[in-house]
Amino acid sequence: MTQVPTRTERAPGGGAADREPVLQVRKLVKHFPLTRGILFKKQIGAVQAVDGVNFDLFPGETLGIVGESGCGKSTVAKLLTNLEQPTSGEILYKGEDITRLSGRALKAVRRNIQMVFQDPYTSLNPRMTVGDIIGEPFDIHPEVAPKGERRRRVQDLLDVVGLNPEYINRYPHQFSGGQRQRIGIARGLALRPEIIVADEPVSALDVSVQAQVVNLMEKLQDEFGMAYMFIAHDLSIVRHISDRVGVMYLGKIVEIGADQAIYEHPTHPYTQALLSAVPVPDPEARAHRERIILTGDVPSPANPPSGCRFRTRCWKAQERCAVEEPLLAVPEVFRGTAGPAEHPSACHFAEEKQVVPRD
Ligand SMILES: Nc1ncnc2c1ncn2[C@@H]1O[C@H](COP(=O)(O)OP(=O)(O)OP(=O)(O)O)[C@@H](O)[C@H]1O
Ligand code: SF4
Ligand SMILES: [Mg+2]
Repeated sequence: MTQVPTRTERAPGGGAADREPVLQVRKLVKHFPLTRGILFKKQIGAVQAVDGVNFDLFPGETLGIVGESGCGKSTVAKLLTNLEQPTSGEILYKGEDITRLSGRALKAVRRNIQMVFQDPYTSLNPRMTVGDIIGEPFDIHPEVAPKGERRRRVQDLLDVVGLNPEYINRYPHQFSGGQRQRIGIARGLALRPEIIVADEPVSALDVSVQAQVVNLMEKLQDEFGMAYMFIAHDLSIVRHISDRVGVMYLGKIVEIGADQAIYEHPTHPYTQALLSAVPVPDPEARAHRERIILTGDVPSPANPPSGCRFRTRCWKAQERCAVEEPLLAVPEVFRGTAGPAEHPSACHFAEEKQVVPRD
């Protein structure tokens, strides 16, 4: 079994700084063409769903990705799992660019990067038994489980995700939402991947079941050692499970760092605004905290603002923000401070603002 450091042992900011990343995403771009006409299609523009995303994922860690609807989270997930092809950029798995692989080499890598989908109601085929759903990956990779062993393997997986192995012949509609997501997780685990990309795995579930599924995912990670990219709208859920957090806005990551750095020492105005909307249980802390209300809608990714994409909703925007794009890097004011604010933030005027009470 892989040795995985506990959440607190993992290095701040860099995840597991002393180790090689299992995945390196570099300048990743996905533009969807916008076309007009039926017979003679003419491209009239492009939806810039993902536009220059960079991040690393370390073995055994959880990187949370948050951002409003339409900011490109699912597109990043689909690019990593080869469900979409990038327009440009690199996805390096252990140093090898998987966007250039095909055939057998691609199949071998895909085994190690699995996906858990958002909606357990639509992502499980209603006509297949749970046993067939969980065992389906073995059809593509029979070397992992020879035919005679499959039933036992599937029953083991049911057991691992907390479901009765005797349910193997049941159909998805015979399970609750939380149980269905456990089935989706079992399928994601079947090939023993090194990476699981979970696209809003608990968003479709009742609040009461969300924590159970998150706890299960943490338990499985401690047991099997895979890295998670965990996508969510809800910053509070991401914090519970993440070692590091990346915040996305309109196709770009605007701030990334260790969970404590992002939650307690955010330096990007967008992160600060998102955090100011997170529920705070303590009434006294709640009374004293500042709510930052963002005005206006998220601009269209087909026509993003010049310079900083957040500038049309940013209360700190200045002229420079319209002409010069802020890059995702440690802001100069924090460089060398060795404090929690020393993490990448794409803002010309980055500064600390405490929005949620510190632990
Ligand atoms: N196949 C596609 N063709 C055209 N545009 C697309 C396609 N898939 C996604 N988009 C657009 O790309 C942008 C990013 O979409 P994406 O689904 O990645 O966002 P998201 O952050 O996952 O949103 P949500 O939180 O609602 O799931 C959106 O504007 C979306 O409309
Ligand atoms: S660069 Fe300017 S517009 Fe963008 S977040 Fe910073 S202050 Fe706001
Ligand atoms: Mg999505």
